[in-house]
Amino acid sequence: MEIFIDTANIDEIKQANNWGIIDGVTTNPSLVAKEKDKGKDFKAIVKEICEIVNGDVSAEVIATSYDEMVEEARVLSKVHKNVVVKIPLIPDGLKTVKTLAKEGIRANVTLCFSANQALLAAKAGAYIISPFVGRLDDIGHDGSEMVEEIREIYDNYDFKTKILFASVRHADHVKQAALLGADIATVPFKIIEQLYKHPLTDAGLKQFLDDWAKLGQKI
Ligand code: G3P
Repeated sequence: MEIFIDTANIDEIKQANNWGIIDGVTTNPSLVAKEKDKGKDFKAIVKEICEIVNGDVSAEVIATSYDEMVEEARVLSKVHKNVVVKIPLIPDGLKTVKTLAKEGIRANVTLCFSANQALLAAKAGAYIISPFVGRLDDIGHDGSEMVEEIREIYDNYDFKTKILFASVRHADHVKQAALLGADIATVPFKIIEQLYKHPLTDAGLKQFLDDWAKLGQKI
């Protein structure tokens, strides 16, 4: 399973990339708006991210009509060869995805909250579908069940659309993504840090080093 970082923060992207476990990046308008340098051109931010991480980088359109989304997607796709254009799962969005697929522009269909929506996105030719698991969990539904259903539907019909487990709320979501056969999980920086952590690892390492110190040797 690929692990993407879900952020537009350049420092976080650089740090996670240095750990060598990041396969790509997802951003969205809210994540970009959270960053300090609000005046910075969005395309420049996307280019900078693409130059740090050697993998897919999702950048979202702001328009909601077919003509404007196609136009914005074309602009974003020219920023770097690794850009995947994020398109919202609305009727005009799926029409846009179909046009982009014909032009060879890869689309990440975002704001997916049901297996039926994911089916339509795959039929439109989406490169990635992004089911928002955490946001469904937040309202008392089972977001992981949606991912399980999408996996089964895509396997039934051999759809190549990648399933990206999005809206990750905790480390256990990452495990669920892997167990359910998601192709990608996009994970906030803080949760990537938590993936490494286990108290028994820290305690075990301390014990090993304390015992070794008693030998007074170097390797
Ligand atoms: O990048 C999209 C998705 O991961 C957003 O997550 O935390 O805003 O529900 P969240």
